Amino acid sequence: MSNFDAEELDEAVTLAGPGRIACNQVCYHLGQRNIEHEVIPRCEAQSVAVVAYSPFGSGQFPSPRSRGGKVLSEIANARGATARQIALSFLTRRESVFAIPKASRPEHVDDNAGGALRLNDDEIARIDRAFPLGPSAELPIV
Ligand SMILES: NC(=O)c1ccc[n+]([C@@H]2O[C@H](COP(=O)([O-])OP(=O)(O)OC[C@H]3O[C@@H](n4cnc5c(N)ncnc54)[C@H](OP(=O)(O)O)[C@@H]3O)[C@@H](O)[C@H]2O)c1
Repeated sequence: MSNFDAEELDEAVTLAGPGRIACNQVCYHLGQRNIEHEVIPRCEAQSVAVVAYSPFGSGQFPSPRSRGGKVLSEIANARGATARQIALSFLTRRESVFAIPKASRPEHVDDNAGGALRLNDDEIARIDRAFPLGPSAELPIV
């Protein structure tokens, strides 16, 4: 299923029965972290995986010259990774979350498949400050 908010998720699980819903596909990227407020915790409580679509912001990935982009580049350089690998690692830092980046160029596929790193608390805090969660709002639908 896709774009279910927390209440809709509860309703769907009630209708379908426990263990019948595999995942909830929702918009999630560094500039749009709204699902962290309610959707991710509810999915975890209902044992439903979270599938993050548009994890690079649909072409709006932070430029290396931006404040946030610099933070990603610094962490990437220190870890021998790319900025996008760091972004994917941040987004999938909880076991319940998967990401489905879209890539049509083979080198982009290789980059994205390069492996999610386990970020440490300091790295997570730096990314969190550079791309703040923001207040809870209605679920964005792209
Ligand atoms: N369930 C839903 O309601 C819903 C809604 C929207 C999207 N989706 C799904 O979510 C997935 C991703 O969506 P999206 O297209 O919005 O955006 P996205 O994954 O955030 O970004 C895709 C863009 O990033 C580029 N890119 C990917 N990897 C890169 C890399 N390593 N280096 C540089 N550029 C890179 C791609 O370029 P290239 O293509 O040139 O490689 C493409 O321009 C798709 O599978 C889509 O079907 C689902």
